[in-house]
Amino acid sequence: TKTIGILTSGGDCPGLNAAIRGVAKAALGQGTTVIGIQDGFRGLVENRVMMLDDKDVSGILTHGGTFLGSSRDKPHKMPMGDKVLDMTEVAVSNARKNHIDCLVCLGGNGTQKNAMRLHEAGLNVLTLPKTIDNDVAGTDITFGFDSSMAIATEAIDRLHTTASSHHRAIVCEIMGHKAGWLTLGAGIAGGADVILLPEIPYDLEHVVEHLMARRHHNKRFSIIAVAEGAISKTEASEGRKKKKIPRDGEVEGLIQEPVASRVAREIQQAAGIEVRYTSLGHVQRGGSPTATDRLLSTRLGTKAGELLHDGIYNVMVGLKGETCEAVPLNEVAGRTKVVPADHPWLKTAALVDTCLGDQLE
Ligand code: F6P
Repeated sequence: TKTIGILTSGGDCPGLNAAIRGVAKAALGQGTTVIGIQDGFRGLVENRVMMLDDKDVSGILTHGGTFLGSSRDKPHKMPMGDKVLDMTEVAVSNARKNHIDCLVCLGGNGTQKNAMRLHEAGLNVLTLPKTIDNDVAGTDITFGFDSSMAIATEAIDRLHTTASSHHRAIVCEIMGHKAGWLTLGAGIAGGADVILLPEIPYDLEHVVEHLMARRHHNKRFSIIAVAEGAISKTEASEGRKKKKIPRDGEVEGLIQEPVASRVAREIQQAAGIEVRYTSLGHVQRGGSPTATDRLLSTRLGTKAGELLHDGIYNVMVGLKGETCEAVPLNEVAGRTKVVPADHPWLKTAALVDTCLGDQLE
């Protein structure tokens, strides 16, 4: 019989357990042996694996996070004691020891690249696109995005009532790494007055003008949704391409000032109005997946089960329109999908008088 290994790698998100369940149930149903690998690629290197049967994947559809655990460790650059080592060969040999015919990797952009490397080192792999950031190429949407957008939208709703009571401007920082999908989606859904994205460097003067115009029209509060990767035109012209976004173990990164704090200070100084800020942080990655994410995770996971059965490997399962499709992994790995300048959501935002930080063409 066939054996598959499943691991979850990178930042967690709602829908991971639903996807594991989808893959495992479909595979078990076809008589495939399913092995769960703990804590992403680290668990493979350390050979921390467990057999999964139907009981193990029952009752987890609605659970947030990943019961397998996750890590951001990469096989080719793995911290081992006080060294960082290339553990690719150990990962491959552990997969072979466990008779794994295909390694199923659930993850975002980093995971797609790491899976590709393991494929190049001789393993069969299959991946699923998981991330709240929605920035994986080869799929219309990633699972985790819808749940996170719902959380950020609810947060904006709540900020509205307090901002309105106190006649304040409130800046809300939303995750998304180097892409603006979450901020744009939640910003439109929550009715943010200003939306600042990594893809459109903002002009502070333009933002302040928009806030002042609102005041002029007796709208005495404003909500500014800012992506964690947003930068100003000034920073962009000074060559600071992207904010350095904290990753595991980067202490310096973790003590960086939140973008929302910087934007709040800039607005307060330039506009002379009272501003507060809040950074949603990991709240956006927690809790139960939405119905849309449960459905998507289950569809992608079970499609993966079918492909595994047919021996179709070295692909990512993506959603294209209404169907789940196998996309060659080499068309996905190493690419990041940001919001394109002509994306219809940008026009939608502009049509409801949302300031995007700069004039749209
Ligand atoms: O990729 C998901 C994500 O939540 C990004 O939006 C964010 O930049 C990053 O992970 C945060 O990473 P960590 O959980 O390692 O702090």
